Amino acid sequence: MSKQRILIARAMFPEVIDKLAVHFEVESNQEDAPWSQEEFAKHLADKQGVFTTGSDRIDAALLSACPHLKICANMAVGYNNFDIAAMTAAGVLGTNAPGVLNETTADFGFALLMAAARRVSESEHWLRAGQWDRWRYDLFAGTDIHGSTLGIIGMGRIGQGIARRGAHGFGMQVIYHNRSQLDAATEAECKARYVGKEELLRSADHVVLVVPYTPESRHTIGAAELAMMKPTATLVNVARGGIVDDAALAAALREKRIAAAGLDVFEGEPSVHPDLLTVPNVVLTPHIASASNATRLAMANLAADNLIGFLIHGKPLTPLNLEAMASKTASAP
Ligand code: DGY
Repeated sequence: MSKQRILIARAMFPEVIDKLAVHFEVESNQEDAPWSQEEFAKHLADKQGVFTTGSDRIDAALLSACPHLKICANMAVGYNNFDIAAMTAAGVLGTNAPGVLNETTADFGFALLMAAARRVSESEHWLRAGQWDRWRYDLFAGTDIHGSTLGIIGMGRIGQGIARRGAHGFGMQVIYHNRSQLDAATEAECKARYVGKEELLRSADHVVLVVPYTPESRHTIGAAELAMMKPTATLVNVARGGIVDDAALAAALREKRIAAAGLDVFEGEPSVHPDLLTVPNVVLTPHIASASNATRLAMANLAADNLIGFLIHGKPLTPLNLEAMASKTASAP
């Protein structure tokens, strides 16, 4: 029997391609060519499965050009690049890569927080520019992390990892806001207290965002929310671009209405709002919060195992819309 065909949409670990090639006829974009949606659809037209990253968009137009497609396996926990409703309507399963990146991403959230609050990037640029001629009492003085109040918006597994680091490692008071309050045991483990969003913004010394992107969470932090924050506060976004209104944030940073920010994700990335590029008190990184070698390999393996699990064994590991697909089939006339 001939093998099913899959597409790997972006350059990928050779060992993950080799593992998939045992089961499938694999086409991979190993040269990492930047495809238009039309080119992507052409490469995918005869495939049963696709391995995507968070920047590969699966939408209704693409699906209509890919009649054989059964599964899109995302090498990311976030899946706002998937139109899940369109996929369900087309009978295409989506899978994501949860779990394997929590601690690595929490590490990075903390790294951005420390770098922004203690002005690491800003002072390094200044030093490299040859401006350090003598010491001053207030040279790049920032805001303390230890003993301060950490506010986390979005208290899933990554948020909880950041809370544990803050509470247990740095003696921070942790407050959080989330769609729903955590159970008492998890709150105790994270030493975290549930508060409303406004209370969090007004009382936190540092605010970290870890909410998934949805139309409702767009601009969770805009001009009004920035106005509630302390002038000494730090804002960190390791969630998704669009959770913060980047133009409003750039203005608040420039006018020192908040002290600093650390951003790993941007509205419309890889473009970055030009105003953010000109303010010194923000640390900017190119969506690398999960980028340790071990974690990126684990994410890729999970996406590959979803393709193998579903197309070969009929059992995906981390499906997103399996139930919705089943109920659609059950209700079909
Ligand atoms: C994720 O897994 O969602 C990370 O942001 C990498 O895309």
